[in-house]
Amino acid sequence: MKQMPNLEDYKKAYREFRWEDIEKELDWLGDGKLNIAYEAVDRHLKTSRKNKAAFVFEGKDGAKETYTFFELAKSSSRFANVLADLGAEKGDRVFVFLDRVPELYISVLGTLKIGAVIGPLFSAFGPDAVKDRLMDSEAKVLITSPRLKNKIEEIFNDLPDLEHIIIVNRDRENIELCDGEVSYEGEMAKAEDDFDIVKTSKEDYAVMHYTSGTTGKPKGVVHAHAAIKGHYATAKYVLDLHEDDIYWCTADPGWVTGTSYGIFGPWSNGVTQVIYEGGFNAKKWYSIIEAYRVTVWYTAPTAIRMLMRFGDKLPEKFDLSSLRHACSVGEPLNPEAVVWGEKVIGIPFHDNWWQTETGCILIANYPVQDIKPGSMGRPFPGISPAILDDGYRELPPGREGHLAIKPGWPSMFRTYWKKEDVYDSRFKNGWYITGDKAKMDEDGYFWFVGRADDVINTAGHLVGPFEVESALIEHPAVAEAGVIGKPDPIVMETIKAFVSLKEGFVPSEELKHEIQRFVKKKLSSAAYPREIEFLDTLPKTRSGKIMRRLLKARELGLPEGDTSTLER
Ligand code: PRX
Repeated sequence: MKQMPNLEDYKKAYREFRWEDIEKELDWLGDGKLNIAYEAVDRHLKTSRKNKAAFVFEGKDGAKETYTFFELAKSSSRFANVLADLGAEKGDRVFVFLDRVPELYISVLGTLKIGAVIGPLFSAFGPDAVKDRLMDSEAKVLITSPRLKNKIEEIFNDLPDLEHIIIVNRDRENIELCDGEVSYEGEMAKAEDDFDIVKTSKEDYAVMHYTSGTTGKPKGVVHAHAAIKGHYATAKYVLDLHEDDIYWCTADPGWVTGTSYGIFGPWSNGVTQVIYEGGFNAKKWYSIIEAYRVTVWYTAPTAIRMLMRFGDKLPEKFDLSSLRHACSVGEPLNPEAVVWGEKVIGIPFHDNWWQTETGCILIANYPVQDIKPGSMGRPFPGISPAILDDGYRELPPGREGHLAIKPGWPSMFRTYWKKEDVYDSRFKNGWYITGDKAKMDEDGYFWFVGRADDVINTAGHLVGPFEVESALIEHPAVAEAGVIGKPDPIVMETIKAFVSLKEGFVPSEELKHEIQRFVKKKLSSAAYPREIEFLDTLPKTRSGKIMRRLLKARELGLPEGDTSTLER
């Protein structure tokens, strides 16, 4: 049966929303202590949800597994005991580098139960991307699989803080464990399934995701246990999750959407999730909705545009009638995609906006409000965004400026790991500056304009040009590199690199491909330049900084702007 949201209830909830009430809906650990894993899973054991499915999993190979909340609570407690036996403690950083398999979710929850900080890594990352993150966070434990470990083998000597590697061997491969490695299956079999969850305070650090900026390597965005309040409330009111929903979030937990809304938001609402290990495949995706009777779907604009490319006939072959609500995040959702959803899938996509730093959805098109196709929607109750001028003063509706938020919502990031100065620099005049440009209309809907910095958004993945440039110049042929985002109708932006070569190297198609492969292997399949152009020299400021802005203007045929600082 479809559960249609009740408009009056919503309006009332919206008018009367208070974070204090959300706090009462959670089940605190006593003495004001809060632990995300307890809120997401263990507290349901006291209710009729105990034997309800927390998730149904489908593997790439077709394997199927179901975990009830009880089984998930017990397995994650077992894993908490494994970590504790290895000597991991509250505050330690534990990273997980796995495909979307049940052990990933168990590791995340078990880590939170011991009060350690969990850092999920995208399994498409290459050795450099993983090394940067483990090194910066001084991670003590890594959970991975034999295949993924092989991919990053070369980095382990450079990680003195990494004490233990836990190997998840789902396929029971014949492997030999090296020094410092333990078998997930072996340790889990020995461990108790009762664990006294560490009574973390709401300000204790819980989750860490790395995000890209214009300069420097990716920065660790740190969230506290209090973030669960935001995950819970927004999953309830924006994703509109109800007791009987079957919910599917297509994002990987290596990115914030995959944790806030692929783990914490839905489970704190006691909702059953579908977890599909595989990546994008139009037919397979429709068949998942049909097979599991998915009711609420959270996905991304690039995926929607790719589905659109497969045409209007394909979805007709599947029964998608279970769907009652669909949301999208990560990039601008073009109005055509919203309308296409309504026409072809039967429901429109509701765009919403947030960031790794904000921890939860802050601006959204709600199920009961009129969607304005192309707009990100309106602020979540209790959230105060504004559009500011370059002096960080509020602008009236209709004017374009910096999208900023009044600080203070519970899931807001607490710091950039060991980069307090960069964290501080994000606050101006009492506002958190998001790095996005936007405008607000007279009805209070926000419209995305673009990034205020050089960060590239490719298929919803933020890529810092510096990270790609650093990888490029490690190639023996590359002297200098400048990287820009180039508009693309499907993935929003593709990465283009301008490269000058060292003496003795000659531009060729073969060299381009070799450099591409080199970066792809080091970073990830999401972060390598799809296009490389060789230039004799790159435009630089007099102080030697490569002028990406100028490269981009030239590429796009736009005015070059102020070039007075250009090195002549
Ligand atoms: O530029 C905005 C874009 O994605 C950025 C945040 O990326 P990340 O931290 O990786 O988190 C992604 C998932 C929450 C934003 O600063 N962005 C996010 N949502 C939208 C968007 N751009 C346009 N429209 C959106 N709805």
